[in-house]
Amino acid sequence: MKWLIVLILTLLVCSYIAWLVYSEWLQFQAQYAQRGLAANNWQQRCQQVSSQLVKQSHWQGFRDFVVTKRVVENPVSDIISFYLRPRDGLPLSPFAAGQHVTVRLPIGSRVYTRCYSLSESYNPDYYRISVKRADAPAKTNHPAGKVSGYLHEEVYEGAVVEIREPQGSFVLPESTIEPLVFLVAGVGYTPVLSMLKVLVNQPFPPPVVVFYCVRNGSHHAAKDEFEALQTQYQGLHLYVSYSHPRSALDWPEIDYQLSGRLNGQTCLDMLAELSIQPWQCQYYFCGPEAFMTKLQQELAANDIDSSQFHDECFSATVTHQTPLLDAPELAEVVFSSSGRRSEWLQGEDRWLLTLSEEEGVSINSSCRKGSCGSCMTEILEGEVGYLKDPEFLNQKQANHFDTSRYCLPCVCYPKSNRLVLNV
Ligand code: FES
Repeated sequence: MKWLIVLILTLLVCSYIAWLVYSEWLQFQAQYAQRGLAANNWQQRCQQVSSQLVKQSHWQGFRDFVVTKRVVENPVSDIISFYLRPRDGLPLSPFAAGQHVTVRLPIGSRVYTRCYSLSESYNPDYYRISVKRADAPAKTNHPAGKVSGYLHEEVYEGAVVEIREPQGSFVLPESTIEPLVFLVAGVGYTPVLSMLKVLVNQPFPPPVVVFYCVRNGSHHAAKDEFEALQTQYQGLHLYVSYSHPRSALDWPEIDYQLSGRLNGQTCLDMLAELSIQPWQCQYYFCGPEAFMTKLQQELAANDIDSSQFHDECFSATVTHQTPLLDAPELAEVVFSSSGRRSEWLQGEDRWLLTLSEEEGVSINSSCRKGSCGSCMTEILEGEVGYLKDPEFLNQKQANHFDTSRYCLPCVCYPKSNRLVLNV
C-alpha cells in the first residue's frame, strides 16, 4: 500500500513538472508567433505609408531648389544644414519622416548625385537636409567626399540645387504603440530627428529610447533640438554616448550619459532599467555599416529577432573596389525608353542608378543598397555584374527575379561593352 501511494505521488509530481514545461513551451511559441506577425505587419504598415505618399507626389525628375539658409550644426563644423525652397514657388510634396531626397549637382565637367535624409518633419515651406563633410577615410586610397565638400565650401544662400522628390522606405507606420529604440551614430541622427518631431505631435506617442553615438562634444550635432524634444516628449529617453570624451571639456551626465563604444548589452541594460521588454521593441539603426552590423549581431545574440531591425546606412559613398575585373574599361549604356545614352568608365565609382540620375533618367529607388527591389529594371541587351549578391535575392518576392533579364541598378555595373536598359 505504501509503495502504491509513493508511486501515485511520484506520478503526480512528474505530471505537474511536465505540465509546467509544456505550458512554458506554449508561451514561448506564442511569443515567437506574435513577434513574427508583428514584424510582418510592421513592414506592411511602413510600406503603406510610403506608397500613399507616392500618390500625392507633385513632380517627376529633378526640380530647382534655392538654398535659403545654412546652419552649422556642431563645433567642428563638419555637419551643415541646408534649408531649401522650390524655385518655382509651387507646393512641396509631403514626405514621411525618415525619407531622403536625391540631390544633383554639376561639379566641374561631371554631374553628381547623392542622397540625404530630410532632417525636419514635413513643413510646407521648405525641406531641410543636414550634410556631413565626408573626409577621406584614413589608411585608404578613397578620396574625400566630392559632393559633401562642394556643398560645404561652395553652396551658400541663394545657390540653386536640383532635387528629386522624397523617397525611401525607412519610415514609421502611421501610428504605433510599440516601444521604439533608435541606435544612431554621427550624421545618422538626421532621419531620427525628423521621426521624433512627428512622434512628439501624436496624441499618444509610444515610449522611445534613443542611443545617439558621437566621438565627443565637438562632434555632437543638433544638441539643442534633441534636448528641446526631450523636454516636450515625456516618453523620450535620450542616451548620448561619447566614444572619446574630452577631459575637462565634456561633462558626464550633463553632455553625455554613456562613454566608450556602444554595445548591445548596454542597450538591453538601459531598456531593463526603463522596464521596457526588448522583444516588444522595434529597432531603428542609422549609421555606418560596421556600427549597425555590430549592434545587430549583439542584439540578435540576446534573442532579439532580426525582423525587428530596420536600418539605413550612413557612410561615405559606397565605392567600387576598382578595377572591377569582370567589367570593361568603358561601356555604352543606353536607356531605351527615354532615348538617352551614357558612358560608364572603370574607376569613376558609379553604379548604374547613379549613372542614370546623372543622365537625367528617372529610375525609382528607395534603399539604394540592393535590398528593397524598388529600382528593378529590365535588361534588353547586355549583362550586369554585382560586387556581392544583393540582399533582395534572399527575399520571398525575389522568387521570380531572373537576373539575366532584370537588374538592380543601385548596386550593379555593366559587364558587357553595351548595355540597354528598358527605362
Ligand atoms: S533601390 Fe532598393 S534595391 Fe535598388
